[in-house]
Amino acid sequence: MDALRIISEDHNNLWRLATTVDQLAGEMEAGASLELAFFTSVLDYFEQFVERSHHPKEDDYLFPMLRLRNPYAAETLDALQADHRGGLGRLNTLRGNLAATANGSLPVADLANQLRAFTAGMKKHILIEERQVMPLARKALLKEDWTDINRAFLDNSDPLFGEAAQAEFRELYHRIVSTAPESVGLGAHSAGDLPPKAAVAQAEVLLRVQGMESCYGRIKAIKGISLEVRRGETVALVGANGAGKTTFLRTLSGVQPMSAGSIHFDGEDISSLRSDKRMRRGICQSPEGRQVFGPLSIEDNLRLGAYTQPRHQVDSDMEKIFTMFPILKEKRALPAGTLSGGQQQMLAIGRALMGRPRLLLLDEPSMGLAPLLVQEVFEVIKTLKSQGMTILLVEQNALAALDIADRGYVLETGAVTLTGTGKQLISNEQVRAAYLGM
Ligand SMILES: Nc1ncnc2c1ncn2[C@@H]1O[C@H](COP(=O)(O)OP(=O)(O)OP(=O)(O)O)[C@@H](O)[C@H]1O
Ligand SMILES: [Mg+2]
Repeated sequence: MDALRIISEDHNNLWRLATTVDQLAGEMEAGASLELAFFTSVLDYFEQFVERSHHPKEDDYLFPMLRLRNPYAAETLDALQADHRGGLGRLNTLRGNLAATANGSLPVADLANQLRAFTAGMKKHILIEERQVMPLARKALLKEDWTDINRAFLDNSDPLFGEAAQAEFRELYHRIVSTAPESVGLGAHSAGDLPPKAAVAQAEVLLRVQGMESCYGRIKAIKGISLEVRRGETVALVGANGAGKTTFLRTLSGVQPMSAGSIHFDGEDISSLRSDKRMRRGICQSPEGRQVFGPLSIEDNLRLGAYTQPRHQVDSDMEKIFTMFPILKEKRALPAGTLSGGQQQMLAIGRALMGRPRLLLLDEPSMGLAPLLVQEVFEVIKTLKSQGMTILLVEQNALAALDIADRGYVLETGAVTLTGTGKQLISNEQVRAAYLGM
């Protein structure tokens, strides 16, 4: 059901922005300055949703079909569509309010209240769709209905929400990110600047892998990989499907046997340590495909990540995760299976962070996510990096990974074929041809 997935991803983006607006409204009341550029770009983004993307998709395709298949849905859908029609008017009122506060004719507290009333309405609307309309649609719509709706939703040439509109969305989102005040950092709270490059290059080696081999039966999937990660570094491991990236990470964290080679972590030879012991040393992994425990609550999923940690610090660590990912806090009691793909990825990263990693292993965190969310995930990684976290990032999305990495390794059929700084690899002809499609 691509259509519902797309709607949920839209909701996820809107929800996060709404939460951010609420946060800034509070900060503004507490004396922070008015973030005019930021709020304006958020309103522009919302307007795109109203005019071009989300609403037309629902109003033209999903809702009419649902009305047809279940006449009892009419009342709820009428209310939602009335709300859709009022969207532009509400945004324009807010734009007026923003201008009024900027020129001093509307008190900050009034603007804060207007903003909160707006986001509260938006969140309510989203919840009605998520909790009532979407389950209803899942039940009532027939297979052929979904074929039609999905085709419409995925039509990239559609002027209202096809490729061109998506490009505009990315542009708008860029603007939001670039105008966001320091306290927000979208998706994560930023803490200070990147450590200077020189410091990283000279930092001591935290992880040293030498000649690692690993097999599935008689097939050697990892053929003698050597690699280093320095303290505070972000190192990207890129490579095509089946190159052995996941196998490398699993061997590193000890869940997959190593048949030759050695692993030193913080000076200690951990080659023969069990995986839980490696985790206690601070090697924590966010696995491929997220692998959150669907029936368990978000909170319990996070607790699982802390099972090697002393109990007294768990609650305060969880609060830190919630500050970083407000959406997880809002949904803390819900089963993790109800989260969208992007939210599950945040949860998987959050769960790894609960183990207080000294080396964070991320296996394809952007896999299967919509472009806006991919960008958000990379923002989160950048923030962790800026906080000094040491990260080994595995990605098929080579460009994005190398772009944020200090150094990278290119993996081909189980062996490292190239290594260099992120910048060097991005401009390397071979890498460009093989992985960046250029
Ligand atoms: N459980 C398994 N049993 C047998 N062979 C496997 C198993 N898992 C992976 N392989 C093989 O090992 C090789 C490396 O796979 P791996 O999953 O590590 O690659 P990857 O780089 O992570 O790929 P992807 O980008 O698809 O995640 C592949 O040839 C794969 O077919
Ligand atoms: Mg993999």
